[in-house]
Amino acid sequence: MVENLFEYDSVSLCDNGEGLKILDQTKLPNEEVFIILQNEEDFTDAICSLKVRGAPAIGIAAAYALFVLMNNSGIMRVPDYSAEFSRIKNLLLNTRPTAVNLSYSLNRMEFRYNECLKDKSITTELINQKLRAEAELIKKEDICSNLEIAKNAITLLKPSMSILTHCNAGHLAVSRHGTALAPIYLAKSKGWNIKVYACETRPLLQGARLTSFELKRAGVDVTLLCDNMVSSLMSEGKIDAVITGCDRIARNGDTANKIGTSSIAVLAAYYKIPFYVAGPSTTIDHYSLTGDSFVIEQRSPDEVTEMWYSKRMAPKDISVYNPAFDVTKSQLISAIITEKGIFRYPYNFEI
Ligand code: MRU
Repeated sequence: MVENLFEYDSVSLCDNGEGLKILDQTKLPNEEVFIILQNEEDFTDAICSLKVRGAPAIGIAAAYALFVLMNNSGIMRVPDYSAEFSRIKNLLLNTRPTAVNLSYSLNRMEFRYNECLKDKSITTELINQKLRAEAELIKKEDICSNLEIAKNAITLLKPSMSILTHCNAGHLAVSRHGTALAPIYLAKSKGWNIKVYACETRPLLQGARLTSFELKRAGVDVTLLCDNMVSSLMSEGKIDAVITGCDRIARNGDTANKIGTSSIAVLAAYYKIPFYVAGPSTTIDHYSLTGDSFVIEQRSPDEVTEMWYSKRMAPKDISVYNPAFDVTKSQLISAIITEKGIFRYPYNFEI
């Protein structure tokens, strides 16, 4: 166990470039197990089963995956390399459809690859070096973005505030620091005593297992609640603001995030509590005018009926509705905080 969570990154490249070291998030909070991903199945399974999760972390892991798999392929001829590059890129692209950071990172890797091909005498060894540097850069930029998000978001907060968050948009979900949780960590470093309420986040319990874990480890005052307790908590006047992360933001500000986020936004509007979304500008999907066109990932029924229970908790063959994300309408979002600034309704991200 590492005492200080920030001493390690949840995603980091092995020095020899032959694998990606990740903290297996499905084992938290009971075990802190690092695993090395090396082959196709390792990577696709890790992303699909949420061993690595959170929109920015998925994007970073996919960029590294593309490099590691190409590097490990040992392919020497450029035409063969190109065919394999496209195959792997598409494979990774289809692992999780909603987080735009996945396609952002993979498209950047492809752009770098196409730049390499302009040099007709380039070797696959040199291409691998360039891909490695690009993946490292994507991670580095994410770290910088998160620090800027923290600085921007803290201007909306005050010492002693009580903040509600949903899912996990913290250190575990990114390169470092988090998005929604980054200002909380900054506030903590300033000696502010912010109190956080973390929604459990059914069905995969990212709030209970991950947010509670990382905030507690960082010494932040955190209280866990079930998702259906939010209205009760808000009605008692216990919440000053809500901050969540995001997986995809449309041009009009409609935002996809973990299932349950939109109901919290509706409640926040009713109780007149500010509802903030924090995320890097790479989460903005400039091709989507509104959230209506977002593809929402649908997940296995077992996550609702069996996972976490010692025995099945619903009749056999019951129909199950299990979308991984929902879309919060932009009118319900008091502000969207990126590394570039604080945006308010009506949203215009053309900067
Ligand atoms: O299914 P998950 O756990 O990947 O969902 C994660 C979220 O919804 C996060 O809030 C979002 O990705 C932002 S992470 C900084």
